[in-house]
Amino acid sequence: MHAIQLLRVMHSDAKMRFKLVLGADDAATAAEQWAALQPKLDLHERLEDEFLYTPLQAEMGRGTPLGDWDAIHETDVALVKQLIAASNKAQAGSPEWRMLVGAINDALSKHVMAEEGQIFPRIEQVWGLERLRKAGQAMQASIDRSAGAKPGARSKETVKTGSTATAAPARRRR
Ligand SMILES: [Fe+2]
Repeated sequence: MHAIQLLRVMHSDAKMRFKLVLGADDAATAAEQWAALQPKLDLHERLEDEFLYTPLQAEMGRGTPLGDWDAIHETDVALVKQLIAASNKAQAGSPEWRMLVGAINDALSKHVMAEEGQIFPRIEQVWGLERLRKAGQAMQASIDRSAGAKPGARSKETVKTGSTATAAPARRRR
């Protein structure tokens, strides 16, 4: 899978997991599902930043859609992180918690729409298939490392096509 394909799979996986979190019948399940989703969001953000947006900013420069996206991405991520921190202080399943997790879902959906609609197609044009494949391999290696998998081993954390994509707990870059 090349980098953009992999990220699109992670987007649909996260979308499906938000539905599970917000649709959970009881507070314990909601808390559990939400705790499981957070490291996946963190990992996804780290992959985008490290393997796409930081190199693209260096290559394209400010004042171009791709060069400027890194800064927009960082701003969106900072907002989402604030909301996540607030959600973790709220009682899982409570109206306040639902409002916060809903707001996170909304913010991420908007962000994903911009990525998939405007940013990813531009990256595909600029980088071409070969480079996207290499970036995808580097991302998958990073996912495997996060999962503690042996190099080259296809672990259960490997991102798969379809709705069962999984990812490992994240290591933050900063
Ligand atoms: Fe994304």
